[in-house]
Amino acid sequence: MTKIITLTIDDQKVNVPEGTLIVNAAKMVGIDIPVFCYHPKMEPVGMCRQCLVEVGRPVIDRATGQPVIEDGQVKIQFGPKLETACTTVVSEGMVVLTRSEKARQAQKEILEFLLTSHPLDCPVCDKGGECPLQNLTMAFGPSQSRFLYDDKHHAEKHVPLGDKIWLDRERCIQCGRCIRFQEKIAGDPVLAFYQRGRATDIITNSDPPFDSIFSGNTTDICPVGALTTADFRFGARPWEMKAAASICPLCPVGCNIVFNTRREAKSGGKVVIKRVMPRQNEQVNEIWICDRGRFNWHYVEDPTRLAHPLVKKDGKLELASWQEALEATRKHIAGAQIVVVASGRLSNEDLFNLKQLADGLSGQALLYDSLPGGELTTRYGVAAGTNLGDLGAGSAILVAAADLYYEAPIWYLRVKAAAERGANLVIIHPQATRLDKYAKKLIRCEREEVAAKVQELAAELTAAENLIIFFGRTADRRLAETCASLLQGRESKPNNGLIGVWQRANDQGAWELGYKPAADLAKIVEGKVVYLAAADPAGDDPQWAEALKTAKALIVQELFLTETAKLADVVFPAQAFSERDGSYTSGERRVQRFYPATPPLGEARPDFAIAAAVASAAGLEVEGRSALRVMDKIAVSIPAFAGISYGKLAEVTEQWPIVGRGDLYYGGTTYENRQGLGVHLNKHWNIET
Ligand code: SF4
Ligand code: SF4
Ligand code: FES
Repeated sequence: MTKIITLTIDDQKVNVPEGTLIVNAAKMVGIDIPVFCYHPKMEPVGMCRQCLVEVGRPVIDRATGQPVIEDGQVKIQFGPKLETACTTVVSEGMVVLTRSEKARQAQKEILEFLLTSHPLDCPVCDKGGECPLQNLTMAFGPSQSRFLYDDKHHAEKHVPLGDKIWLDRERCIQCGRCIRFQEKIAGDPVLAFYQRGRATDIITNSDPPFDSIFSGNTTDICPVGALTTADFRFGARPWEMKAAASICPLCPVGCNIVFNTRREAKSGGKVVIKRVMPRQNEQVNEIWICDRGRFNWHYVEDPTRLAHPLVKKDGKLELASWQEALEATRKHIAGAQIVVVASGRLSNEDLFNLKQLADGLSGQALLYDSLPGGELTTRYGVAAGTNLGDLGAGSAILVAAADLYYEAPIWYLRVKAAAERGANLVIIHPQATRLDKYAKKLIRCEREEVAAKVQELAAELTAAENLIIFFGRTADRRLAETCASLLQGRESKPNNGLIGVWQRANDQGAWELGYKPAADLAKIVEGKVVYLAAADPAGDDPQWAEALKTAKALIVQELFLTETAKLADVVFPAQAFSERDGSYTSGERRVQRFYPATPPLGEARPDFAIAAAVASAAGLEVEGRSALRVMDKIAVSIPAFAGISYGKLAEVTEQWPIVGRGDLYYGGTTYENRQGLGVHLNKHWNIET
């Protein structure tokens, strides 16, 4: 058991585990020691000296080995020099003074020193309003500088570090956080210091420059405005923006994010998204997101999005009212066989209602473009309580036919970290991947052979106390079946299970809700009413466009006039995930809630409401009044979702490290999670296909 150390910080008694740094112990009891180079996710380096504090320790009697008592108190000896709170570990009986005159004076002097070469562009700097240097200067800094303005370091403003990140060299305080993040956390050591002294610069040493899918995170942890994103810089000031919690919809990890929005004149008075920021969830994305999640949100504001229903008249799609579109749909589906084809881009609520529609009309509900054998994750998917952050020595992780770096970037970060903690990482993949260098065993083979290779490793893998298996795309379901067979008997054991590296955010939700794989569309659609939601087979493969022409009718729910929508008889405009609420089930079987950030476009409606309206037109009763009510229906209909409600999904518990709370210098500009950590599905289906 970890030993607990008792110490005193600014007159407060603190009990913390042995090995805790003073800076963290203080943070735990609400005392903020100013830091720049320290970041709670990285090893301390003690470079900036901003965190200087007075440290006293009990005087020990050499003869007895016991503390010396004086006037009934343990005698404390303070060192002649201040110590850096970010590199000093707590010890029993320690007394720390973070706000004494001596400590305050040192903190002030360090700030004065940092400002000697800082351009003071706060009024035009993107970091203004959420800048630790600005905030700490106001809180601890001097009101005047003794250094000469003309002696400041001047450099050309704003140079690109890559196509996504810009560097302002004058603003850099050389804390090294960006370099250390890239090296230690991302495993992409593409930044470095160049030159020395005042001339020290941050440079990128990769080709292409700043070659990392995690580059945006450096702008969150840079404690000044030296690193900014090409996407957001000069876009808005932090205090002008609102924050809405959401879930990234671009891969199965389910990173927790925040949309920053504002109403602005240059966008015609509309509320628009200005940027995407990470939101802390230590069991999912910690405090990071990848660049895809951070920058690829613009499609939701694309002016070509569908804003009104369309109905085919005389062979041409024409604008129609909702009533006309629903009536046309009713006529098409009356007495016909229906097949619903939906993708994992949709929320749990959308997929549930679409399946209700299919079931109500005695049709089929199929999951578009899914991994063969994906439905096995409803039985062997990870158990409740699983946290990739807990894996280390004694655990085995198999990554088979998946490239986590590109397909699910935050899983790459978490698996890499688990391997560094001692987990036995085995990778089987046809090509080299960025995760390879952390693997204990690496097997190259053709995709068709991956399942056979997994079987050969069965004894080694099943000997581990915990076993997590990621599987990706191969030609058939043999891989999923082989991986599942290794997990038998571990179905309800936390930190064990099968994870599909799906293409979309909510394929897992679709499987859990009972969707079947849409194996060969061409064979299924002929003569039927095909109801497509968030799926564009005609755009993905021209052969499917031909197959869709054999359908009796085509009804489409979409964001855009896709190639499939162009062939449709009726097209319903769907709201983007940023305009509505709903939930996704991540590949780790965690159900997480997203919230509306901007008003809906035109007459677009949420997919679950469109499905409910169509069902109603067809004489069925499907809940469509709100996503919350649909989730209540899911919870009573689907055993795996039992007990889940929007209230439960919104619950939060305290997380470490503490981020937010009004100070930004400790964890950076990642948002504190106040809107929900999500809930793991706690049961497995026993689906046979
Ligand atoms: S660019 Fe920012 S994070 Fe990097 S060393 Fe400079 S101040 Fe630190
Ligand atoms: S890892 Fe996946 S879920 Fe997370 S930000 Fe990137 S694309 Fe989005
Ligand atoms: S030396 Fe402690 S924060 Fe930099």
